Amino acid sequence: MPAAQPTDRLRILIADDDPMIPELLQERVRLVFAEQPPEVLIAGSAEEALDLLYKERIDLLLSDYDFSSGCGPEAMNGLALLREIDRLDITVTPIFMTGFGDEEVAKNAILLGAVDYLTKPALSGLAEVLRKAQTAHRKRREQAALRNAARLLDISEALRGGASLERGAAQILAAVVEETDCDAAWVELAAPEDLSRVGHCEFYHNVTLDPPLLNDWRPAPRSGEFIDSEQVQLLFPNASVSGVWVRPLTLDRAGEPSLLGSIGIAYQDRLHRLHPGRRQTVEVIGQHAESLLASRVLYAEAERASRQTIEVLVRALELHDEYTAGHSDWVSVYTRLLAHALGWSPHRVERAGHAGLLHDIGKVRMDPKVINHNGPLSDEQRAQFQQHTVAGREMLLPLDSMVDLIPAVYGHHERWVGGGYPVGLLASELPPLARATCIADAYDAMTSHRAYRRARPHDAALRELRRCKGTQFDPEMIAPFTVYLILFRRLVAAWAEPLFEGLVAQPVERLFAAAEPIVAPPPSPSELEIGEGEHPGALCKEYAAVPRNGARVVEVLASLEEALIEGGARFLAGRAKGDADGATLITRMEAMTERPDHRITRLLCWAWDRRRAR
Ligand SMILES: [Fe+2]
Repeated sequence: MPAAQPTDRLRILIADDDPMIPELLQERVRLVFAEQPPEVLIAGSAEEALDLLYKERIDLLLSDYDFSSGCGPEAMNGLALLREIDRLDITVTPIFMTGFGDEEVAKNAILLGAVDYLTKPALSGLAEVLRKAQTAHRKRREQAALRNAARLLDISEALRGGASLERGAAQILAAVVEETDCDAAWVELAAPEDLSRVGHCEFYHNVTLDPPLLNDWRPAPRSGEFIDSEQVQLLFPNASVSGVWVRPLTLDRAGEPSLLGSIGIAYQDRLHRLHPGRRQTVEVIGQHAESLLASRVLYAEAERASRQTIEVLVRALELHDEYTAGHSDWVSVYTRLLAHALGWSPHRVERAGHAGLLHDIGKVRMDPKVINHNGPLSDEQRAQFQQHTVAGREMLLPLDSMVDLIPAVYGHHERWVGGGYPVGLLASELPPLARATCIADAYDAMTSHRAYRRARPHDAALRELRRCKGTQFDPEMIAPFTVYLILFRRLVAAWAEPLFEGLVAQPVERLFAAAEPIVAPPPSPSELEIGEGEHPGALCKEYAAVPRNGARVVEVLASLEEALIEGGARFLAGRAKGDADGATLITRMEAMTERPDHRITRLLCWAWDRRRAR
């Protein structure tokens, strides 16, 4: 229930069987609230008053005790009316009116929730009692608003970002059930990534009811309302359900509504339990859930559009230059590894992967003969080659969803102390993603074959990264990158273990459970490939201090599952020709494929040699 706004006009119901009393009272009430005259409603019986309370928002109730002289001996009295108000949890603040000498009745009325009582016929102290009731009512509504705010916060928490729909649906359902005294209720939410799919459903049953048949039923995208009896029958074919109130959750895009889910409340008989106060509360819950879900849907759509754009660009690059395509995939693996090593959020890790994929996109605007030139480049060719970073930036500039990737595309050949290209600025002034892409790009470039030279081995590449730390590369990123590369290699070796035993390759998924003991030991001097002139003690200490998280590395490995299986098959075929060391296997495997620069098979051969050496 939202708090009463100062501009809300007070609504007062006067219930009395003597028509003279309301006539007189309404004038006096209007005088008390002369600064903002309230709306006054009149009921001639307790039943009529209750009926109005079911249907309308009423703030204050001035109720008589005895209705028998006007309505007959069977008439409901004022105390029974208060009991019903309490039972149905109707948000109204009652003031009781009794005849002279009825103090006992008045005391009972106070016990039943009346804020005060007045004695007829004089009703002395009316102004004071009305003011008191108005204050009490405002406090009550504020408390309800606070309770509701806490509940909405719980719902926000449960539906926020990537949280599961299951939790969100459960929270909404709990709030609805608590507020509505219903016999059954449901909350149905569509998956934000695919609105045609219902992601999660939660039911509540107070009585013996079968769950509603929601599978083939969809509410019309309108505001909350009681649905017609035919639809009730469709939902609950085997039960006597008399009223179902449905609040569809929708997203409106340029007048086109899409259904995000629904909240349903069912009653077996007493429809009136969903009085306006309760309906308003469910409406607030519905609106809140709707806006949270809508933002999730819109976010998922924007993500999808961004991914599709990246796919189109990467495809264009693959068609233009096959070498760069393989290189981009691997730079993407290494940027994600480094992003994990730096403890970045899942979103930043994903964007790091995108930066890796697109860092050389500008090459689609260049002559492939220059990109893969065999031998030294002329000055003119070099200048042309260096323009790929500028071309990449120009290509991405018009795309809003790519803005954060532009520094990586433009700046991945800049150097920490300056002197790189295209501008020669200090890489320390570039965002972290650009600096991470520099390192990932350099490592992959060193360890892959080029048209004009063979790949350098991993150990030489690691030492080169260390040598250029603080001149070419961000000095803070080399240790995390090296450690995560080492963990990556350990986990590839663990994945390959069944292959080496002649067994079928296991899914990468299984490594999630097995990763921690594999990543627990700090990098050893041999894994760090410590070279001449380096100080093992200091290096080991520095690298052991990098926090290690196996699950994050497995996450990167999982995206390479297909490549691992393909590489594994090639490895097995190479081994089938007899026992061999890694170098022989690499030669055999490279002879089997058109693209010899296959990093996975080389990794498997390294793991094979490592195992044989044990
Ligand atoms: Fe590049």
